[in-house]
Amino acid sequence: MASFNLLLLPGDGIGPEVMSEVEKLVRWFDKESGNRFETERHLVGGSAYDAHGVAITDEAMGLAMASDAVLFGAVGGPKWDKVPYDCRPEAGLLRLRKDLELFANLRPAICYPALADASSLKRELVEGLDILIVRELTGGVYFGEPKEIVTLENGEKRAVDTQLYTTHEIDRIARIAFDLAGKRRNKVASAEKRNVMKSGVLWNEVVTRVHGDYPGVALEHVLADNCAMQLVRNPKQYDVIVTDNLFGDILSDVAAMLTGSLGMLPSAALGAVDPATGKRRAMYEPVHGSAPDIAGQSLANPIAMIGSFAMALRYSCNLVAEADLLEKAVANVLGSGLRTRDIAARGANAASTGEMGDAILTELQHLAR
Ligand code: NAD
Ligand code: IPM
Ligand code: MN
Repeated sequence: MASFNLLLLPGDGIGPEVMSEVEKLVRWFDKESGNRFETERHLVGGSAYDAHGVAITDEAMGLAMASDAVLFGAVGGPKWDKVPYDCRPEAGLLRLRKDLELFANLRPAICYPALADASSLKRELVEGLDILIVRELTGGVYFGEPKEIVTLENGEKRAVDTQLYTTHEIDRIARIAFDLAGKRRNKVASAEKRNVMKSGVLWNEVVTRVHGDYPGVALEHVLADNCAMQLVRNPKQYDVIVTDNLFGDILSDVAAMLTGSLGMLPSAALGAVDPATGKRRAMYEPVHGSAPDIAGQSLANPIAMIGSFAMALRYSCNLVAEADLLEKAVANVLGSGLRTRDIAARGANAASTGEMGDAILTELQHLAR
């Protein structure tokens, strides 16, 4: 019997609503899977700012460092639009990613057969879609210095963000992408803008060099703007897309709509494997945000959060059969026709967040028998 400790950071808006559905599943796995799951909850984002004046406390950071995995809901919202920049809710998420060194962000976009008509694209373009965006998560313009707004002598202001990548940062994310492609359909598309950015030139060069170690995997270089266009023109041409922090953020929101809804896309943020313990730090979070427009109304789709927990079972707990079972439960519930509002046909009856979570738990219990 293995034992895992999970830190739950529900956050703001719909974060706590979708996290509640995952907690039901964690309790079930704790009772029924023969493994122990211990959980601890902490504030993050705007709710942490309201209570502690910071978007994440040092205590929560310490627990995150010591946990087997962090499950993260979502942060942000209009209530905190005016708080100091360093205390804004999103700063808590960025600190977690940076301090835990979670450089590899896996964002799978899978179009479940039952949802092929929920996408804004035609069924034939998305049916059977299974792509994986590998987003670099601790570098680039998110963290490069200087990052500032300065007032010039003439009273004008100048804002600076710095896009910065080192060989090492590109090398390690490229290896993750090639390794994963080797377990899938053996294709990597690397997206950058080498036509305007020096970091794009280096990105292209390093990915090409690393590719030399992966002769079984095909590599294509694509300009990031073209990649966005190709994702809505013919998304099934892609297997793995590897890209930088900012392009990965944008391309993964595009990919989300191919699956029917932003409420469908899970993600895993992984650190390097520690050779001494064989373990890696990790955080699992839906790709969507706190959705202030629907928060507090039980309208949120919990599948992105539940899928993120399935990724935790797979990557942090090595419980592959359990992860498969949970993903099958989600697919079956969608197959049965149950829909939250974001994936329902216009005007059709929609399930609440809790009804969707309960149906997935019931299906899981059924499959496990
Ligand atoms: P958002 O992802 O919160 O919402 C975009 C749209 O998608 C909204 O119409 C929302 O209702 C819908 N949506 C999102 N998740 C859904 C779900 N699970 N079920 C049904 N519909 C869903 O993006 P936004 O509105 O641009 O940002 C709102 C806040 O969230 C901002 O403060 C932003 O910084 C933050 N944000 C946080 C994260 C995170 O915590 N990981 C990610 C993205 C945005
Ligand atoms: C995401 C979000 C975050 C990002 C924000 C909230 C900092 O949009 O995880 O996709 O830009 O990385
Ligand atoms: Mn985003």
